[in-house]
Amino acid sequence: MEQHYLTKRAALVNEALGFHAPELKHPPVIFEAMRYSLMAGGKRLRPIMLMAAADAVGADGTAFLPVACGLEMIHTYSLIHDDLPAMDNDDYRRGRLTNHKVFGEAMAILAGDGLLTLAFETMLRQEGVDPAVLLEVVQKIAQCAGPEGMVGGQVIDLQSENTQIAPELLVDMHERKTGALFRAAIWCGGKLGGATESQLADLERYAALFGLAFQITDDILDVTGTTEEIGKPAGSDEKNNKSTYVSIHTLPGAMRLAEQTVAGAEACLVSFGDKAEPLRALVRKLISRKN
Ligand code: IPE
Ligand code: IPE
Ligand code: MG
Ligand code: MG
Ligand code: MG
Repeated sequence: MEQHYLTKRAALVNEALGFHAPELKHPPVIFEAMRYSLMAGGKRLRPIMLMAAADAVGADGTAFLPVACGLEMIHTYSLIHDDLPAMDNDDYRRGRLTNHKVFGEAMAILAGDGLLTLAFETMLRQEGVDPAVLLEVVQKIAQCAGPEGMVGGQVIDLQSENTQIAPELLVDMHERKTGALFRAAIWCGGKLGGATESQLADLERYAALFGLAFQITDDILDVTGTTEEIGKPAGSDEKNNKSTYVSIHTLPGAMRLAEQTVAGAEACLVSFGDKAEPLRALVRKLISRKN
């Protein structure tokens, strides 16, 4: 079921993204640049997780594609900016040249800005949801993507270059630069799906551990993966003297932590029964992922 489920959900997300980010508007180059990165594939994990969290509480996650797509647009903008020369200065992403390599730095910055703002327009196109709930959901996403969340985490990441940061700060950095968007995905999926307060609390604990395990394995793949497999330059963290789970805990240490974290995340899902099977499969997959 696992592969089938993921493929089907990713296809739905791709189709909806194509619809919400059209190509033929004026001036064409900004739409071309935005779509270049947005439609380049990517695992679509955040929108898939949002929908899977709604499924876990008994709703039909596919009813929330506009919100899910908005989250993927925000994620894609963060990747375009993360790759810029002023940040990680990387040449490949999602198996192709990075946005600034093709469109130039100024257009890549604007493509990121365009995706970030189009995300909010897209999320607010969501129908069939109590407006008060939608407001809470969009606020949560804004908060998780902003300076208290992902943007703040990126700042800590940049500040940690060329220094050995404390393990607690490493956790804080990961929780924000990567974890925050996963927390938003899971919380919003639960909220949109009608989760109770106690279900939301369990989902939040799962999301925190998922995000941590995800970034630990991202740091591992930066060392163990090939550029071809991961679709982005292997060894980027070492090149930039980043503080990572591998640099601070060693490779075997990071692998052990990833396994413990995955087990912890699974343990948060007990009360959901079979309906949380996709969430379980998603977190288990992190250990063996190759991209
Ligand atoms: C990569 O995210 C950036 C990090 C947060 C570490 P993904 O590994 O989800 O990238 P795509 O969306 O599949 O390209
Ligand atoms: C940054 O983490 C993730 C965000 C874009 C917020 P990384 O810099 O490790 O991501 P990759 O490895 O380039 O995908
Ligand atoms: Mg980075
Ligand atoms: Mg990077
Ligand atoms: Mg990385």
